[in-house]
Amino acid sequence: MKQLIGNQNKRLNGSLSVPGDKSISHRSIMIAAISEGKSIIHNFLFSDDCLTTIKTFQQMGIAINNLDNKIIVHGKGLHGLKAPKNSLNMGNSGTTTRLLSGILAAQSFTSELFGDNSLSKRPMQRISIPLSQMGAQIDTCNGHLPMTIKGNKISAIDYDLPIASAQVKSAIILAALYANGDTIIHGQQTTRDHTERMLNQFGKRKVVERNENQVIVHADSQLKGQTFIIPGDISSAAFFMVAATIVPNSHIILKSVGVNPTRIGIIKVLKAMNADITFHNFQDNEEPIADIEVKSVKHLKPIHIGKSDIPSMIDELPLIALLAAKSDGISTIHGAEELHFKETDRIETVANEFQKLGISIKALSDGFLIDGQSQWHLVDKNLNSHDDHRIGMTLAVASLMFKETINLAHADAIKISYPTFFKDLEQLLRS
Ligand code: S3P
Repeated sequence: MKQLIGNQNKRLNGSLSVPGDKSISHRSIMIAAISEGKSIIHNFLFSDDCLTTIKTFQQMGIAINNLDNKIIVHGKGLHGLKAPKNSLNMGNSGTTTRLLSGILAAQSFTSELFGDNSLSKRPMQRISIPLSQMGAQIDTCNGHLPMTIKGNKISAIDYDLPIASAQVKSAIILAALYANGDTIIHGQQTTRDHTERMLNQFGKRKVVERNENQVIVHADSQLKGQTFIIPGDISSAAFFMVAATIVPNSHIILKSVGVNPTRIGIIKVLKAMNADITFHNFQDNEEPIADIEVKSVKHLKPIHIGKSDIPSMIDELPLIALLAAKSDGISTIHGAEELHFKETDRIETVANEFQKLGISIKALSDGFLIDGQSQWHLVDKNLNSHDDHRIGMTLAVASLMFKETINLAHADAIKISYPTFFKDLEQLLRS
């Protein structure tokens, strides 16, 4: 349990570099491991989830070292992984489990995967179905972990993604690297495209062709180790963007944040709600980055979010609900059914925990209805992250609006994605 000390007129001020992007950190280890030769990765996110990915590849014979905060991966090529001696522990990490499954589907060995309580409740059929169609033999426990993956020769497929999920798309893309022909993946909604971008960076030739609604993966592409810098995680930066917007007299700059167009839904929402947010020093790299300046505003407009907006802001929806709760009117979030399948059922956890803060929020089957108010009133000071890192950080941001001390149970979960969150928040808070 952590005590969140009441905010006695503090504001956020100064500049901060948030840690490396979680999605890109996972992919950097996986793709470097199946590339040939050495990769050097700067600004890797040393969080529990990303360490799970490192340990997993070490168990499959890949040498991965930390040298002066740079990660060095000695890749062994597409066919260089060894059978792990023991079952692979996925911890809390859905990204490790689902992306790794794509690679394991094509190996000449069998692997067993298990995870913690929360991960064991999350759906795995979304990957076992397409990967089985590609040739792997996958046994789940009623669609959940533990799961056994017997690798096999991979057949190319033409697949319509039934859900807008970058994890599912990436699992298929990674398996498709080993296929007997080109794989085509169709999806009505654009999801984060870090796997596609990184494979093209590591590919000796273009590995993935992309257009709005489809991805074509060229099989048997050779990958070569690279040196690269992981951008700051926009999903981590988002906590401070929202805090600086709602805490009066705040003014911050978040340095070198990844602003990949498939991830900037939160920025679009902030702008639409009248927040004061500006990009500086934009660099259009393989993964674009910018410094983001945020100043607090007195009035936020309510917002209406629909299905097509969701993928670019999926992890920021609890924070967007919080912003909406501070706006001048009624906001709605629809089309967000996927929130039921995150580290917790985030529709339920957000609504229940926000109600303790006196926020007027109604859980809908596919999102939220929120009646914004300029002031909230503490109903119950005992909040709970329910072991969900993003819920924990969202509640910590919410607590900045109260003078009372608030208790946050299971605050430890925050180290899943942002071990230095409280230190970084403290660095920005000024009297
Ligand atoms: C992720 C994709 C998203 C996101 C998760 C990370 C990724 O999940 O919520 O935190 O790295 O590909 P889905 O693909 O299930 O939407």
